[in-house]
Amino acid sequence: MKTLVFGSLNIDHVYQVPHFLRPGETMDSSAYSRNAGGKGLNQAIALARAGQDTAFAGAIGQDGLFLRDALQEANVDTQHLQLLDTPTGHAIIQVETAGGNAILLFGGANRCITREMAQATLSHFVPGDCVLLQNEISCGRDILLLAKEKGLRVALNPSPASPDLKEWPLELVDWLILNEVEGQDLTGFADPQAMLDTLCSAYPKAAIVLTLGRDGAWYRDAHQQLHQPAVPVQAVDTTAAGDTFTGYFLQAVLTGQPPAFAMALAAHGAALAVTRPGAGTSIPTADETLAFMNQKA
Ligand code: RIB
Repeated sequence: MKTLVFGSLNIDHVYQVPHFLRPGETMDSSAYSRNAGGKGLNQAIALARAGQDTAFAGAIGQDGLFLRDALQEANVDTQHLQLLDTPTGHAIIQVETAGGNAILLFGGANRCITREMAQATLSHFVPGDCVLLQNEISCGRDILLLAKEKGLRVALNPSPASPDLKEWPLELVDWLILNEVEGQDLTGFADPQAMLDTLCSAYPKAAIVLTLGRDGAWYRDAHQQLHQPAVPVQAVDTTAAGDTFTGYFLQAVLTGQPPAFAMALAAHGAALAVTRPGAGTSIPTADETLAFMNQKA
């Protein structure tokens, strides 16, 4: 059983700032780095580091070859990654003193994914395989429909939130992994229990994972609901915490682990990631995550 991440790759330009820029403000930053990122790339690295057989489909330009290297170094199969004659996607990321971030995206090659590319890539996968999607590439809705037509399982992290997500056939999704911003966008409710109630009655076949940062995360499916507290750590950079959670959670449930274990593993992986700077580079290995979990137990 293989998992395909069909998603984004970004060149992350990261600036350390005392606070997020205010409208009209010009401010100096105290540090700059250029890193491998993009929700698709980060989640693929998290899945692979967690131990999953992972393939990646997406698109970069010539300026993004180091992103392909980052995936390959993490043992992600990149045979479905397209090299296009267009700039790679990028992100301008402000990281403030407490580790929080604000992210501005430019889609670039991520927005050049076509339905034909999706059809060609998905023809290599068979029922029982899984596709993990986010919302940073073009044709996401088509990929979801094509994957389900082929009998693949689909996990969706609908991030970042966008108005058109309400038109996606979310009732087809097997795992919906979202944060409170995306939850509020989809349901209209700010209260986590109201979000979960609404999502579960709209998508009764899906397992829902709602991440709430410092307030931990909720899991709910047709049989159970459980809460996983956040693991307290000194945050350096919260970028890719949600991506690490998604990759670790999905790897665990795909290998038959119970949801409570998957949630605990994911929370510890994400906690370790926020203690390190960067996106893809901050994602821990399975050994590191399990050792950290045992140490905290
Ligand atoms: O989730 C973090 C990621 O969001 C960053 O790596 C950035 O590229 C954006 O896609």
